[in-house]
Amino acid sequence: MEIIITKNYDELSEKASKIMLDVIKNNPSAVIGLATGTSPLGLYNNLIKDHKENGTSYKDIKTVNLDEYMGLDISSNQSYVYFMRENLFNHLDINLNNTHIENGKAEDPAKECERYNNLLHSLKQDIQLLGIGSDGHIAFNEPNTPFGSETHIADLTESTIKDNSRLFNSIDEVPTKAYTMGLKNIMNAKKILIIANGKNKAKAVSDMVNGKITEEVPASILQLHPNCTLIVDEDAGSLL
Ligand code: GLP
Repeated sequence: MEIIITKNYDELSEKASKIMLDVIKNNPSAVIGLATGTSPLGLYNNLIKDHKENGTSYKDIKTVNLDEYMGLDISSNQSYVYFMRENLFNHLDINLNNTHIENGKAEDPAKECERYNNLLHSLKQDIQLLGIGSDGHIAFNEPNTPFGSETHIADLTESTIKDNSRLFNSIDEVPTKAYTMGLKNIMNAKKILIIANGKNKAKAVSDMVNGKITEEVPASILQLHPNCTLIVDEDAGSLL
């Protein structure tokens, strides 16, 4: 794993967006794996700025998102599909039909997992962006998710529900289940870019990088990926 430690969040976002833009500029029809959460917001702002200033086009880019809360769809401003449109897609020339995410309100959840998984098999990510949860999760693959997992429904841990409640009006509003790409789907990406900032990520980052490769720390599987770059600010990297 290549590790880059930056002075602050701005520098992290700058470096991360350069890596993402390299992939997009080299292959204008690339498949980009995207993530939600607050960590990628700076990177997304940089992509939007670059699109406006330099005209980088996304008209043939395809995207696949990691996860979606069960029970939420575009009609909820807490859904990840809403987040992606609001924070990225609506500001680019991307064709929304080329942007993919699990349907949180699918009538048949098992069929929805199958549909999304088949889609992932046909769209191998040229790059997959990831954040990390404070319990070491990636996407919504919580501790003890099998390394061989594919798209599935996850029960969110108490710690994840608590972490994510900061973005809701109250903790009772946070869904307890979510659709997520599995760890195998993530490892299938040609390149992985994982970013983390803030002191509350320091332990998870250190367990991911220097700990045992174990299903107890889902992100530790990234030690086995042949092309993975981790960018952290000084706080998140403080235990490395
Ligand atoms: C959520 C998402 C993850 C994300 C993580 C960290 O649980 N499912 O994909 O990486 O939170 O979020 P943040 O970047 O807001 O710290």
